[in-house]
Amino acid sequence: MTVNKTIGSLGYQVVIGENCLAALQSFLEKKKYSRHFILCDENTFQHCLPELLNECYALHEAELIEIESGEENKNLSICIDILRTLTEGKADRSSVLINLGGGVIGDMGGFVASVFKRGFDFINVPTTLLAMADASVGGKTGVDFDGLKNHIGTITQPAGVFIYPKFLETLPSRHVLSGLAELIKAGLIADKKLFEETAALKHFSFGKAKEIIFKGISIKNKIVKKDPAEKNIRKALNFGHTIGHAIEAFSLTTAQPLLHGEAVALGMLAEAKISYDEKLISKAELSKIQKVIGKFFGHVKMPKAETKALLALMQQDKKNSGDGINFTLLQGIGKAKINVQVPESLIVNALNSL
Ligand SMILES: NC(=O)c1ccc[n+]([C@@H]2O[C@H](COP(=O)([O-])OP(=O)(O)OC[C@H]3O[C@@H](n4cnc5c(N)ncnc54)[C@H](O)[C@@H]3O)[C@@H](O)[C@H]2O)c1
Ligand SMILES: [Zn+2]
Repeated sequence: MTVNKTIGSLGYQVVIGENCLAALQSFLEKKKYSRHFILCDENTFQHCLPELLNECYALHEAELIEIESGEENKNLSICIDILRTLTEGKADRSSVLINLGGGVIGDMGGFVASVFKRGFDFINVPTTLLAMADASVGGKTGVDFDGLKNHIGTITQPAGVFIYPKFLETLPSRHVLSGLAELIKAGLIADKKLFEETAALKHFSFGKAKEIIFKGISIKNKIVKKDPAEKNIRKALNFGHTIGHAIEAFSLTTAQPLLHGEAVALGMLAEAKISYDEKLISKAELSKIQKVIGKFFGHVKMPKAETKALLALMQQDKKNSGDGINFTLLQGIGKAKINVQVPESLIVNALNSL
């Protein structure tokens, strides 16, 4: 019998492994929640729910809330539908919501649970690489609003996170790659060895999944435990995201929306270029980063956006305070430098290099 690995986070546990759904069952037995709700989309309904119910009999009577998949559904209007369903289903503050899905389900379910009757427990059962290696931990919840990424939300920690890597077997390869971007980011900001390991992958290997997810989520967990409210060091996790979120938000208005990880990959290229222009990384380091990101994301096309429109989106970045855009840059591979304001000309140069 394989053993789960468990990491302690901010008042909850992150359990990863082949037996983690059994661990979820024990957790639910202990908690004795008044009612169970499961949030899923049509894909996790089909591919993940049967296995979850098979392992967790505590969820046999759970009320299912199914929403349509996709970033375009991560909005307040869908939250209202979920809140109504919870009200009709008589959810109370001793209930629990299980978020069975990727980052969209986790962010939106977490948000709804954090505001319904001023908050009740939610548990993340991530089903994408991106959510397993990054989004399920740290408590950032929220939705997109008026074309801005994650503009409305809370920082509310889950009651537990249960990572079952086998769910990845049905994940389409484009979404696997999208998750790989966050793992590359984790290596770049905090762990040179993880970056080298990810760089050496020929393609994402399921044999390595558990190990690599564990490394990614451990880096994230260590950082968010030090700074849950993102006052300082947690900003390191935003490397690639100032420009990445602007590109993602813009692309969502076009006929070819990018996935979060694809936009972050472009954002990392641009922000690595700025790091080089600011003399924080060497030419050799920049080339290495470009080579690795190019290997996995060379096919991703930069949307045809006006620079002005992207800069306006960056002005709304949550890391900013006062005027100016606050970047997280690299200081060598494996180390981040937060709160760097750079001249607009460098941002424009970096965008033009994509
Ligand atoms: N809260 C955080 O800290 C944090 C961190 C990073 C990203 N995010 C957010 O996460 C979101 C992206 O998450 P994502 O990439 O997981 O996207 P997603 O939730 O949209 O999932 C990707 C797609 O895969 C499908 N899917 C999920 N699991 C599956 C499975 N096991 N088999 C088959 N299909 C499956 C989904 O239905 C969807 O179509 C973005 O909104 C981003 O802003 C949040
Ligand atoms: Zn991200």
